[in-house]
Amino acid sequence: MTTRSITDRLGGLAFGGDYNPEQWDEPVWKEDDELMRRARVNLATVGVFSWALLEPEEGRYDFDWLDAHVERLHANGVAVDLATPTASPPPWFTLAHPDALPVTPEGTRHVHGSRNTYCLAAPAYRNAARRIASALAERYGDHPALALWHVHNEYATLCWCDHTAAAFRVWLRERHGSLDALNAAWGTAFWSQHYTSWEQVLPPRATHWHGNPGQAVDFRRFWSDEIIAAYREQRDAIRAHSDRPVTTNLMLPAYQNVDLWNFARELDVVTSDQYPSSPGLDAAASVAVHADRTRSLGGGRPWLLMEQGTNTVYDGGRILGKEPGDILRHSLGHVARGSEGALFFQWRQSRAGAETWHSAMVPHAGPDSRIFREVTQLGEAVSRLGELAGSTVTGSVAVLDSPDAWWALGVDGLPSSRLDDYHGELVRAHRALWDAGLTVDFARPEHELGRYRLVVAPALFLLSDEAAENLRRYVEGGGTLLVQHAAGFVDDRMHARLGGYPAGPLREALGIRVEEPRPLREDQRITLSDGSQGTVWSEVVRTEGAQTLATYTHGMLAGGPALTRHRSGGGQGWYLSTRLDDAGYAALVGRLLTEAGAGPDVPGIPAGVEAVTRRSSDGRHWQVLLNHTAEAVPLPEPAHDLLTDAPVRELPAGGCAVLRGH
Ligand code: GAL
Repeated sequence: MTTRSITDRLGGLAFGGDYNPEQWDEPVWKEDDELMRRARVNLATVGVFSWALLEPEEGRYDFDWLDAHVERLHANGVAVDLATPTASPPPWFTLAHPDALPVTPEGTRHVHGSRNTYCLAAPAYRNAARRIASALAERYGDHPALALWHVHNEYATLCWCDHTAAAFRVWLRERHGSLDALNAAWGTAFWSQHYTSWEQVLPPRATHWHGNPGQAVDFRRFWSDEIIAAYREQRDAIRAHSDRPVTTNLMLPAYQNVDLWNFARELDVVTSDQYPSSPGLDAAASVAVHADRTRSLGGGRPWLLMEQGTNTVYDGGRILGKEPGDILRHSLGHVARGSEGALFFQWRQSRAGAETWHSAMVPHAGPDSRIFREVTQLGEAVSRLGELAGSTVTGSVAVLDSPDAWWALGVDGLPSSRLDDYHGELVRAHRALWDAGLTVDFARPEHELGRYRLVVAPALFLLSDEAAENLRRYVEGGGTLLVQHAAGFVDDRMHARLGGYPAGPLREALGIRVEEPRPLREDQRITLSDGSQGTVWSEVVRTEGAQTLATYTHGMLAGGPALTRHRSGGGQGWYLSTRLDDAGYAALVGRLLTEAGAGPDVPGIPAGVEAVTRRSSDGRHWQVLLNHTAEAVPLPEPAHDLLTDAPVRELPAGGCAVLRGH
């Protein structure tokens, strides 16, 4: 088993990125060595997409070139995060195993010429992936340079082929037990979908009209389990030869092909990739939500930012590049929230290939560039933060996140297609809390929530019986819960809740019953009695014990409850039956924080300054401060800053500090 943490091996926090020396030659490698020293790089991720070079033909491995780079890095004081190359099978694989290529719902089979072109359910792919992972582990498993194993890259590819169909049926038998149970779960009595043999059951391929919601959500669950099983096979093959920690880089963007909560449990250290899509304060908020989610997936354990960009990613005409100073600010934003370092994709910007224009630590312009200077400045900063290694971050409030609820909002035939912005709603709830200075945890609705003063449930369309009961208990036990519109409308089989939404125990906690959904058109707004406005959705709500705090003012809902509060046991259950405008939502969250007695992570910090506390188990703590304003900001009291190794009294415009607590 794993013996030491990455930071123990590195002697501090990690700094570096994906390194693809196979794209270059000797003079560049020499320069890389020198520049890595200059930038204080201590960890390089190698081999991520190197399958074609590592196994030039089936079963014949060529490790000599990789040996040379691993030795070179080691001699240069750079540890290795060794990847298995399985996200990019080589062309020979395609030709030998055409059945292992992915098929779209419409039946198009993809071919090589890009990456991620494989079907995870195809036996030929799984065997080839396991074999190369095992061969790499055998060769490098105890190499002194090796600090971490990086299985695959951003598992996400979906497939609807016949191998998938066969594996899906095995999974469904396991889950449902019998065809009768499957028919009942999927509601196949509707539209003549009744199955009389397992062979008739398919993955949700393109259909002529709306697909079956139960089938769609089960397919997502199945595929998630398939991904995790594929990861485990590689991990176990590696563990047979190596005691170093094993991970895969999770991707937490606006879509989700895997249950990240389940996946994170399998990782020795949770790692993830983050690429903000908008500039300025929105980018800082996006760093924060990403970091809080990644940390929460691992139950608060230290984690590692595996990838970020130094500047533009892909289409810079739409998504602006990073501003001067963002390389440091964003990286410290991640470190503030528990990352054990800051890594990038990639070290040197490619001169050819599909990501030629993707930014890197050493840009096309070379080291005499703003970007490399900022990278070097960051390397210096990270090298001063070694004492933070192993310390952790805890939120006092939580936002609920359920993969099932996310998938449920992606099915055909919902009461409004405008509900399908799960990620956007999660980010919005986080943003309101982040703006108020709180450090936020994410939690599954089934998790123990008792330690949170406030829990926000923004998009729980699907809610299991167990989760509904858990939320009831949370309120009963003294918690403050905000549940937002269209919550708990279906159970975990996608069956509608009868007798009024949401699920029974949650109705009890909220003291309301939703009788009728009233989705709003794109151009429609609805006004509340407190002056705020709703979009997307509204509902006919009946109170059953709850107090009405705001009503709708117009149309058939006039006078009906829009916002309610119910005191139940020691706590309060709030229900908001529309999607409030930003100002109204921020005001509501502010009010809830006051009611719940929850405040900023670091009190007394001026507006526009982000402040997060990391604590070690021996009682030491550090405050990471990021000034997002264009003004210098005085600190409440002078403190020792690790970045400058000097006392600071104020943060310059856009400046950062890491204060050692006393
Ligand atoms: C990541 C991926 C990298 C690179 C990067 C581009 O998702 O792991 O290989 O493609 O995106 O931003």
